[in-house]
Amino acid sequence: MAGIAITILALTAAAGFWAAEAESSKQIIEKTVKGQKLCDQGWECKGLSKYCCNQTISDFFQTYQFEDLFAKRNSPVAHAVGFWDYKSFITSAALYQPHGFGTTGGSETQAKEVAAFLGHVGAKTSCGYGVATGGPEAWGLCYNKEMSPDKDYCDDYFKYDYPCSPGAQYYGRGALPLYWNYNYGAAGEALKQDLLNHPEYIEQNATLAFQAAIWRWMTPPKKGLPSAHDAFVGTWKPTKNDTLAKRIPGFGTTMNVLYGDSVCGQGDVDQMNTIISHYQHYLDLMGIGREKAGPHELLTCAEQEPFTVASKSSSS
Ligand SMILES: *[C@@H]1O[C@H](CO)[C@@H](O)[C@H](O)[C@H]1NC(C)=O
Ligand SMILES: *[C@@H]1O[C@H](CO)[C@@H](O)[C@H](O)[C@H]1NC(C)=O
Ligand SMILES: *[C@@H]1O[C@H](CO)[C@@H](O)[C@H](O)[C@H]1NC(C)=O
Repeated sequence: MAGIAITILALTAAAGFWAAEAESSKQIIEKTVKGQKLCDQGWECKGLSKYCCNQTISDFFQTYQFEDLFAKRNSPVAHAVGFWDYKSFITSAALYQPHGFGTTGGSETQAKEVAAFLGHVGAKTSCGYGVATGGPEAWGLCYNKEMSPDKDYCDDYFKYDYPCSPGAQYYGRGALPLYWNYNYGAAGEALKQDLLNHPEYIEQNATLAFQAAIWRWMTPPKKGLPSAHDAFVGTWKPTKNDTLAKRIPGFGTTMNVLYGDSVCGQGDVDQMNTIISHYQHYLDLMGIGREKAGPHELLTCAEQEPFTVASKSSSS
């Protein structure tokens, strides 16, 4: 049994290697505009951007790594068997690579950002609790939707901008689950999909489910706040207030951006530690190593003042 598993792994790794060789001959169009180099790498990083001069995600994150990270997602007890796959992730990422998703800052930062994003995804879609086989971190992408929603998540306060569609339910769906009409509405605008009338699209289409998650990672939740992406790669510069609030660029602050006080500023709570441990586990599996995450103060948001407070925030 163990022997078979190793052979298969070696084979897919080799296949990944040859795929990478083939990729390296892909055509990169380069142009210099006002002294800045801009590139286009075809479908995965399209449209003359400085970010497209760097490696693309599929150059350093390949099918076998996706399979390693989400090893249990198709096991019989999982809740979204057959839904998630590598191709839908890479296809969805193509939308945001020209804007810097997984393409910012050189190979180590690039790979760390993918691990960080997927760490959030894994933690939010895991069904591995406590003593589950392979450890709790082996069960990411077990879900693609909330199983027993107890409400419709329709907030009337947004009835002019994002009116709820009769009968539609805006319960948690996707890779970084979306909740509430206003979040479906905003994601739908960005992705040019009628998610307000068809929130179910997210649970029917893995590419869209990943796109909505990357949209959330790349978009500030409110004016004046950074996106999780900016907080992670360091394009966000903390203000004096941020510094006083212990918010520094790094993984810890991505949790603050995405979840506010439901995860951050609560001390060393499980909800936070689960997200961190997924990130660390994925860094190990991707061959980067958890030590590259940096010191504990970058990883945590236990003592940070939350950016947002749950009553009117978009957090899960
Ligand atoms: C591309 O990668 C290089 C290092 O290889 C890095 O210095 C540069 O900042 C990256 N480009 C962008 C736009 O992040
Ligand atoms: C899933 O969503 C993607 C991205 O919006 C779209 O390109 C694709 O056609 C959709 N697939 C199906 C089967 O509708
Ligand atoms: C900084 O924090 C203080 C006190 O909470 C607040 O009054 C002020 O508006 C904040 N400044 C900025 C730029 O957010």
